[in-house]
Amino acid sequence: MADLVVTIDGPAGSGKSTVARLLAERLGATFLDTGAMYRAVTLAAVRDGVDLANEERVLQVVREHRFDFEAGAGKLVVRIDGQDVSEPIRDPDLTAKVRHIACAGRVREQLVAMQRAFASRHAKIVTEGRDQGTVAFPDAKAKFYLTADPAERARRRAAELQAKGAAADLEEIRRAIESRDKSDENRAVGPLKPAQDAVILDTTGLSVQEVVERIYAKVQGQAEPATSKPSRGVEPAEVKERRHEAVQVPRSPAAWYWVARLMCWVFSVICFRYRAYGRENLPREGAFVLACNHQSFLDPVFCGIAVKRQVTYMARDTLFKNWFFGPLITSVNAIPISRDKPEIAVMRLVIDRLREGAAVCLFPEGTRTQDGRIAAFKPGFGLLCRRSKAAVVPVLVEGAFEAWPRHKKLFRPFQPIVVQFGKPLDPKQVADMTNEQLAEKVTQTLREMQNEVRRKQGRQPYEYEAKSEA
Ligand code: DC
Repeated sequence: MADLVVTIDGPAGSGKSTVARLLAERLGATFLDTGAMYRAVTLAAVRDGVDLANEERVLQVVREHRFDFEAGAGKLVVRIDGQDVSEPIRDPDLTAKVRHIACAGRVREQLVAMQRAFASRHAKIVTEGRDQGTVAFPDAKAKFYLTADPAERARRRAAELQAKGAAADLEEIRRAIESRDKSDENRAVGPLKPAQDAVILDTTGLSVQEVVERIYAKVQGQAEPATSKPSRGVEPAEVKERRHEAVQVPRSPAAWYWVARLMCWVFSVICFRYRAYGRENLPREGAFVLACNHQSFLDPVFCGIAVKRQVTYMARDTLFKNWFFGPLITSVNAIPISRDKPEIAVMRLVIDRLREGAAVCLFPEGTRTQDGRIAAFKPGFGLLCRRSKAAVVPVLVEGAFEAWPRHKKLFRPFQPIVVQFGKPLDPKQVADMTNEQLAEKVTQTLREMQNEVRRKQGRQPYEYEAKSEA
């Protein structure tokens, strides 16, 4: 058996899959999605034309086919007789049929045996399902049970579907979720219920990151003795080490910051006929996040020079490797961040700075625009704002794409650049929104501001869909 088994059970839409996957990543553990196993057996039975209510026949399906469950990059790769079925098992019609398989006691026994076999092949696992803490791994050291109210769960599912471009009827999804809850809770074998020693966590109103944080802290507290044996993946010691490195990021000497800002201002006005509007919207005191659209490499300069306070920036870690650029951006409060895998230590550092009342400039699109339009903001930035109780100021940069589009090596001078600060959302308003709602709101605000600026300049506004695809 694995040295560390963390079980996460809960109803559909409670966030357990995403949480378990991220938690596994953080712990350097392997993620096991047991729902995928039930889905795979259902798919095999449907393909064989088997009556799903006939337990004997379904058992035969389990015996006749080869099911492989392997840890892939952040997901479980499922194969039936060597064929990858990781996608078809997510089909909504199939999802509606899984309950028949989930009710079959002897099929469950087979799947629980496969889950234990999986655990014996890995040093650490985070496993999620309905019966992981109660039936499959009753001796697990760390057990969690996630819940969330059905309306919230339906909303999350609908957002997932919409993100994939599928239609989503909220009411219908909610009814399906409630009916699945009933069937999961009331079946005779392996029913959905918290283990007696599980920590119950209601995720309504919490972001995924917040839930992961809480569980991670508890696992570290509960499971440290069991993880003394070296194992693969990122060890907690390494995580601590990275946090240590991040905390070393220096602050800019005040005099140098103001000199650099002045030089950048002169450069921007001369080279780009730079103009900044709406500076009265910047809070005079307290922490705030400048949530800025991203058009060019120069955006942090365009945003920062209009702010009469030192601003902290986050920049791609690879930029810090350049002999000239690295020390330069470090000297003006830039913090390195990996684009592939934002590190928790860096997030903590930024939250700490915000809690001290700093202004932080973020580009929640995650990358520069391809065509000048504003892409949907990634919801993750909301976590930083919420955690630090910072206000959020939408910041529009317009014209920078024409000045320095991503495919050009050098910028084109004399393109007019406009920066406009929108009305801030205060910490209370931020606290009342989910991360997704916040991302949606700021994206929409900036798109409207952008088109207004373009109209005033006599340029064609961009066409955006009525709602962002966030
Ligand atoms: O988590 P999911 O939606 O992928 O689960 C699919 C189905 O499998 C769901 O109806 C509940 C069932 N299931 C189960 O009964 N026991 C588990 N350990 C995991 C899933």
